[in-house]
Formats: sequence, structure tokens, C-alpha cells
Amino acid sequence: MTDRTHSLSVDAALDHLAEVLGPKGFKRERADIAPFEQDWTGQNRGRALAVALPDSRDGVVDVVTTCRRAGIPLVPQGGNTGLSDGSIPDDSGKALVLSLRRLNRVHRVDPVGNVADVDAGVILEDLHRAAEAEGRFFPLSLGAKGSCLIGGNIATNAGGINVLRYGNTRDLVLGLEVVLPDGRVLDSLTPLRKDNTGYDLKQLFIGAEGTLGIITRATVKLFPRPDNKATAMLGLMDAAAITRFYKTMTSRMGEVLNSFELVSARAMEAAANMMGDATPRLDTDCPWYVITEVATSDPDAVLEDKLEALLADAFEDETIVDGIVARSLEQRNTIWKMRESITEGQGRTLRHDISVSIAEIPAFIARLHEAVEAELPGVEVVNYGHVGDGNLHFNVVVPEDWSDADLAGRGKAISGTIYQVVADFDGSFSAEHGVGRAKKYAFETHKDPVAQSLMRALKEELDPDGFMHPGVMLP
Ligand code: FAD
Ligand code: MLT
Ligand code: ZN
Repeated sequence: MTDRTHSLSVDAALDHLAEVLGPKGFKRERADIAPFEQDWTGQNRGRALAVALPDSRDGVVDVVTTCRRAGIPLVPQGGNTGLSDGSIPDDSGKALVLSLRRLNRVHRVDPVGNVADVDAGVILEDLHRAAEAEGRFFPLSLGAKGSCLIGGNIATNAGGINVLRYGNTRDLVLGLEVVLPDGRVLDSLTPLRKDNTGYDLKQLFIGAEGTLGIITRATVKLFPRPDNKATAMLGLMDAAAITRFYKTMTSRMGEVLNSFELVSARAMEAAANMMGDATPRLDTDCPWYVITEVATSDPDAVLEDKLEALLADAFEDETIVDGIVARSLEQRNTIWKMRESITEGQGRTLRHDISVSIAEIPAFIARLHEAVEAELPGVEVVNYGHVGDGNLHFNVVVPEDWSDADLAGRGKAISGTIYQVVADFDGSFSAEHGVGRAKKYAFETHKDPVAQSLMRALKEELDPDGFMHPGVMLP
């Protein structure tokens, strides 16, 4: 039966999709669709009507037009590693998940033009490998690289550990192919570095979290492989030393500085929950650790010597109190594994993914701790992040005896306090993970009202039926 506003019934839509997509491309059985209903954290779960997994752009167009005609809400999903409760359906059981996972061809890697042309469903690590096979480097790197998809990275404008040098995902995208809510295909899939022919429309879809259309393919920038690297893990005794050390690193090694990551002692313990005795340790227990990496494609550059000279000076003036420089690939990988393990090892936390201007970091950290301690005495915080980008993950450990009602009430109040501190520092309440459902109330409270109304106008223009990922980002 069709209703008055839709030209196709839900049943007819599902039958049509089952027929055109086939058993690999369409799932309705509960056991098959369950993995698409729960997010990576395990803390959020929804219910889907069905899951479509087309393996072609035209298949995506069919799913989009069919859902629009039947009024079925559509939830685009990549690798389902998002951390803002935006990658899964709500619990109504009415939405269809459109997984991009089977749309996964690397079409071309051009080592002269330094461009890769890839489907949205290519796993980030597979893109790394494809680039490396041609002697090139794709710099976006994050802990979820083995399962997140490039389309999801683009839809969330992901950050990661190399933003300092190469920028966010937004800075790495040259062109996009997008299926719009009305089924038209926006083809701005260009390898060009220069193109001043009007509005840069692709930027609308980068960081839109699937609310404006489905990204099906992208052209992205590649770089020479910076295989000559030096990586260090340093211990610092106070937060003021973080920015002091950052200034030294950027002054003396700025052009080759890839990463400047912060790990608090509590975050190190979270990593140790995953790594046990393999956790890299310094002789001195410190409240703060910094992981920094410099890299170049010049095989003759003596980065390690330069870094060591810099570290000797920083040790001398007591900016750092201890440290190790990785002597082997294995040591380097262990340091990075520790950084990546924090996410999984921290247990149940209220996650905050926030940023301020880098110079404000020490005062910001102090003010945040003061604010949450006042609200929840004895509170534990897993604090780490891409501090060279001014980006902190300030995650409040949920007390073991908290019920779901405590989480919704007291937890939300603590997050509200944190976002107010962020606003006082003119920072961002979402530096890299996006708004999703988790930060909608922060969006409503702290996003500039004119920006909110422009965003709503764009949404209404592109998706007047409001079926494209409803309920995320925009209140
Ligand atoms: P999903 O989680 O599936 O989706 C994310 C959002 O994008 C959803 O709103 C979805 O609807 C939308 N979407 C997905 N694909 C498309 C598409 N093709 N077209 C339109 N919309 C789409 N994030 C960082 O920024 N930096 C980090 O350092 C980082 N580290 C992480 C480490 C771990 C261990 C984990 C689990 C997550 C981490 N994340 C990080 C968060 C997450 O991995 C990123 O946000 C990632 O970019 C999401 O990609 P995905 O393919 O999993 O997308
Ligand atoms: C990270 O920096 O490790 C990621 O953004 C994931 C997280 O917030 O833990
Ligand atoms: Zn991060």
C-alpha cells in the first residue's frame, strides 16, 4: 500500500531493492543486519528496516531514489567506526542502512599527478597500501584505519595524527562524486589542483556526515613517501611544558614535523589495559607524555641527530624530563600502538573531542579539570589528543555505579559544563569526530545561530523530504 505522500509503498520498495541488489547486496534477516545496528563503542544501538550494500554507483542511485519515493529514512554507513553516534539508525526500525562497504575499487593511483581515484568503500589502510605500491603516501592516519572507509573519513572530515603537516581530510580531497537526495549525481571528480570555476561544492559534502548526499567516489592527494623518520616519546612534568616543547619543535623542525600527540598518565594506563607489559614506558613516571614524529622523503637527511640535539636542549632547560627515541621500526610501531590503544582501552567514558588555539592548551586543561572536579569530586579523566592541532580528547570516566539515568542526567550536565568551558575559550565542541546525535545539543547551544540557519536552508534545499540521515547533526 502506498500512503498519500509517497508514490511507492515500503514493502514494494524493499522487494524492488531485494530484486535489483541480490542476496549479497540486500539484507533483511535480523542476524544479518545486527552488525550494522550497533556502533563501535557498543554504547549506541539502533534498529534497521534493512541493509542495502550496492556494489556500484548506479546501485546507490537506485537505493536513494527508491527510499525517497517510499519515504524511507536513509542512513549512510561506512566502516561504522564513527564516535558521535551518527553511523547507525535510530531505534524506530524504519530506516534503511546504506552500507558503502562493497563499493570498494581503487580505480587509479597516479604517482606523477600525485592523485588516487577511489570508491567511497575503500578501507583507509587499503588506500595506504595502494599508494605505497606506487611509491606514494596518503597521509590520513587514525587508529581505525583497518576498518574505516575513505567515504566515511570524508563524510566526517577525519583528523588523525598527521594533520599538523598535511591538514584534515578536507585538505586532502581534490574531487568528489556524490549521489544527491533527488538521485542526481554531482560529478566533481577532478584530479585538478587548480580550478576556479565557481563555488567549491565538494566542500559542502565533506564533514556533512551524510546529511546532504552519499559520497560514492573521490580523488585524493598523494605525497612522496616520508620514509626517513624519527619518532620520540617524551615525559613532561607540567602542562605549560607542552606548549613550550611544541614551540621548540615547530621552530627547529617545523617543516618536517608530522605529529605532536599528547598522552596523559591516565591515558597511558588505558593503553596498558590493551598492551600489558608491551606498553612503552619511560624510567620516570610523568603526568604527561608527548609523542612526536619528524619525517622526510630525503633519504640523506639526518633527522635523528637533529631531533636528539633538540631533545638534549629541551632536557637541559627542563622542558622534558625523560624520553626515548625509537631505535627500530619495532620500537616506533610500539609507541604508535600505545597511542592508538587508548581509544579501546579506556572503558566507559563520556567522550569529548574538543579544540582550542594551541597557546591556550595549558590554561584550558587546568580550567577543564577544575570544572569537572567541581561537578564530580574525584573524577577521573582520560586526557590525550592531537595537541599540536589544539585538539584534546577529554574523556570523563563514567563511575561504575552510574545507571543509564545517571548517564543521561549527570553525564549530560558534565558534558554541558565542558562545552561551556570550550565556548569560553572560543574553541570547538567537535574538533574531529563530528556532531552525529551525541553532540546535537552542543550544536544547538554553541553553534553560531546564523550558521545554523544557513545549514538548515542548505539541508532543505538539497533534501526537502528530509529522508537523508534525519536526526543527526541538525536539531
Ligand atoms: P562511519 O562511522 O560509518 O560513518 C560516520 C558518518 O559518516 C556517519 O554520519 C555516516 O552516515 C557518514 N557516512 C559514512 N560514509 C558515508 C558516505 N559514503 N557518504 C555520506 N555519508 C557517509 N576520527 C578522527 O577524526 N581522528 C582520529 O584520530 C580517529 N581515531 C579513531 C580511532 C578509533 C579506534 C576509532 C574506533 C575511531 C576513530 N575516529 C577518529 C573516528 C572514526 O574512525 C572516523 O570518524 C572515521 O572517519 C569514520 O569513518 P567510517 O567509515 O567508519 O564512517
Ligand atoms: C584518537 O585520537 O585516538 C581518536 O580520535 C579516537 C579517540 O577519541 O579515542
Ligand atoms: Zn583523535
